[in-house]
Amino acid sequence: MVKYVIGNWKLNPATLTEAAALAHAIGAMANDANCHIGCTPSFVHLAAVREILKHSSVWVGVQDIGAFGATGAFTGDVSAVQAVDLGAKFAIIGHSERRAYHKEDNSLLVKKITQAISAGLAVVLCVGETKSEYEQGETLGVLDNQLSVLNGLTVLQDKFVQDKLLIAYEPVWAIGTGLTPTIDEVVAVHRHIKANLQHLGVDDVCVLYGGSVNDKNAAEFAGCDAVNGALVGGASLKVQSFATIVEAFAQF
Ligand code: 13P
Repeated sequence: MVKYVIGNWKLNPATLTEAAALAHAIGAMANDANCHIGCTPSFVHLAAVREILKHSSVWVGVQDIGAFGATGAFTGDVSAVQAVDLGAKFAIIGHSERRAYHKEDNSLLVKKITQAISAGLAVVLCVGETKSEYEQGETLGVLDNQLSVLNGLTVLQDKFVQDKLLIAYEPVWAIGTGLTPTIDEVVAVHRHIKANLQHLGVDDVCVLYGGSVNDKNAAEFAGCDAVNGALVGGASLKVQSFATIVEAFAQF
């Protein structure tokens, strides 16, 4: 199965000059057919980053999209259609920071997923439990609830759409903390997610792990069959660390 290593740049970097430098560095990374590299600049840097990477195999994506329409009276939104027009290939949807700071819930996320799919974007749907949910053994139930946004999506029966759906398991407590679940825990969760999606008719969905992935621990994650790639935050802003993570996943 092809692997994906995607950098989620979040609200970084502060300047277009720095974003351009990062894009040039990522574009120069080894291009391995077994491992797709992706990055998600902020919307204001999207056009410039895409221009730098347009002759490379790196996928450029976005960290969010508007829920309500392709164009129209939706102040502050950026639509999937606009992102596609600038060369975006995928959208991260439902990141825990969007859920926490912008109060995004399942009903909104269904709309965003629908907008993304109809515009032709691949979707990286993020799911993950909080620290207290983890400690109370509620992880799988929380994930099932978050994945239920896919339940009513009839377009998911389309194989072409299925191929453009990725799930990122990102425990909230592992994001930016240096903490990670054990490999066994990650594998069990990824298998659960794959089984859940199989019930919806999606065979062997690609599941990425995210949360404190770095150059030191990437090889351990990469060595697991159930881990089909990584969604990387902080380490994706450090060129050497990101390159090491990409190499780790390209090896398997
Ligand atoms: P960190 O890699 O900084 O923990 O962030 C993970 C993340 O949120 C990726 O979407």
